[in-house]
Amino acid sequence: MKMTEQLETAFINQINLEIESSLLYRQLGIEMELMDLPGISAWFISHAAEERGHADKLIAHLTDRDNHPVLGEIKVPEVKVTSITEAFDIALEAERGVSESIRNLYRLAEEVGDLDSRPLIDWFLTEQIEEEETVSQILGRARLVGQDGSGILRIDDELGGSAGA
Ligand code: FEO
Repeated sequence: MKMTEQLETAFINQINLEIESSLLYRQLGIEMELMDLPGISAWFISHAAEERGHADKLIAHLTDRDNHPVLGEIKVPEVKVTSITEAFDIALEAERGVSESIRNLYRLAEEVGDLDSRPLIDWFLTEQIEEEETVSQILGRARLVGQDGSGILRIDDELGGSAGA
């Protein structure tokens, strides 16, 4: 069943936010490459693809229901980082913003009684818990190693392995 215009707008905003996240992660991948950290760069690039996947999931839900997703003006987030801690700090802050936006989507879907979007929004709520936890754990480890080169290289190796680099 087609969703209401108000909920459609909220879904479209979420799609644009996921694309914005994707661009943010892609930019962080560039920043890490420039810091000669190919493993961390690969991790951010693979995460950028995941965010695109999130946007696609939401787009598919709308088109399946005969709603009309329209991609909006997407801001490319400006990031300048001088350490891996800063990069993961930015990522965590962005994930927290996405989580809050998903919660608002849930609240609105409840308010308008849209049952059909429930499984998808539930999936996103669970996904956000995992995403925040993953980024927060890497950030914690980045803080532990600080500016220690061998510690940073170890994180680079590990993340490179997990990103399939
Ligand atoms: Fe799709 Fe990491 O939020």
